[in-house]
Amino acid sequence: MPRPGPLRVLTGAVVAATLTWLGAWAAGAAEPPVGTPGDTGSGDSYYPAMGNGGYHVAHYDIDLTWRPLGRTVEARTVLTSRATKDLSSFNLELDGMQVESVHVDGAPAAYVRDGAELSVTPAQPVPDGTSFAVRVRYVGTPPVVVAEDGSSTGWIPTADGGTVLAEPTGAMAWFPVNNTPRDKATFDISVSVPNRLKAASNGALVRRDTGPKRTTWHWRERWPMAAYLATVSIGEYQMYRSSMANETSAGMPLLSFVDPRLGRAATARSQLPAVTSFLRRSFGPYPFDTSGMIVDNVRVGYALETQGRPVYPDAPPDWLIAHEMAHQWFGNSVTPRDWRDIWLNEGFATYSEWLWEAEKTGRPGVAQRNFDYYYGAHGAASPYWTLRPGDPGPENMFADQVYERGAMTLHALRTEVGTPAFFEILRAWVAENQHGSASTAEFVELAERVSGRQLDALFEAWLYTPSRPAL
Ligand code: TRP
Ligand code: ZN
Repeated sequence: MPRPGPLRVLTGAVVAATLTWLGAWAAGAAEPPVGTPGDTGSGDSYYPAMGNGGYHVAHYDIDLTWRPLGRTVEARTVLTSRATKDLSSFNLELDGMQVESVHVDGAPAAYVRDGAELSVTPAQPVPDGTSFAVRVRYVGTPPVVVAEDGSSTGWIPTADGGTVLAEPTGAMAWFPVNNTPRDKATFDISVSVPNRLKAASNGALVRRDTGPKRTTWHWRERWPMAAYLATVSIGEYQMYRSSMANETSAGMPLLSFVDPRLGRAATARSQLPAVTSFLRRSFGPYPFDTSGMIVDNVRVGYALETQGRPVYPDAPPDWLIAHEMAHQWFGNSVTPRDWRDIWLNEGFATYSEWLWEAEKTGRPGVAQRNFDYYYGAHGAASPYWTLRPGDPGPENMFADQVYERGAMTLHALRTEVGTPAFFEILRAWVAENQHGSASTAEFVELAERVSGRQLDALFEAWLYTPSRPAL
């Protein structure tokens, strides 16, 4: 007998489920579940209204057509999700634009919009544990989303197109999303643009379809990705292809997009392999299998570690490449479960800058020197020490202290446990949590397990105390 193909398996499963249900129904048991609404938040400390309960997204399939005239998109996103309870309705986030239709498993669904919340009521409840597809069609101009700290995120318009920078909650500017870093998914992203433009995104460029007027760029991120790390960047780019060796291949593709008005970023592009190799030696295998950079004239005042292919507002210096590439391990592969734990991103990326500088200069004392510098630059009475990097507040997520005192926290840990145990901790953190989400409490627990020391007091003093820790 031939092995059953995927279709046969599926058909078999459907038949089995139907028979089970018919059997139960004939026996006078319950009808299909009535269900209850999914939570309209995810419990995040800083963005409690963002993200939703009752399901997990496994995959986003985003299809955008972008038109320069009016800077509008026509879009269709399909989310493939799994219900975590019997769902009568559920929420997504989508900011701005106009929803044209919502379908669940091919059937039209009712929907209501309230601010950024999109509530969907399927024709039939979704039973616990089942996979379901939500298709949303929408049109309009994707918005800038102003974060709680006042920074501009979302769809950032540029002279020649636009770029998505979505940390922490800007993903809802361009696709309907379970807008929380604790629900990671894989992505297919297709973007149609006029032929004179290019559309960069995350992961691998799987195909380009060019017609007489427009080209569709098909991108795929095959590793779980938090929504805030997804990007699309449209512009009159110069595209540069090269490759570098990594753990699994002699030629990991590097694909970079540079706005020619900002030069060629030749130095930065040439530094990327050396920086990445150094980080691999420090933290373990590179978590993804593509990389590169997007250099675009976004006037937001920050770079972003968009997965695999960070966005820089100008040709980046090597310390910034080290910072954004370190995020591929710390933030992208291991993602904070709660925005309060942002130091797990920024403290680690800043400490990686220090490590890279030590490597580059051959002076191993760089980290100690930087630690001493920040410790002494702010006297014990300085208000600098009142901001707690382990809980900076939504308006201070990207404050200097999250970066600097966050990095000092790691240096204090290294001083306490010794350099070998310190790197063992970082590597274990990455290995045990790769492609997942994790918390500060889990990091402390892991550091204690690996080092065999009691470290609560150290982390309490460095992360959670509003004063300068004693040395
Ligand atoms: N995560 C970014 C980085 O460190 C920085 C960042 C994102 C940021 N959003 C911000 C900085 C808003 C300041 C304000 O590379
Ligand atoms: Zn950072």
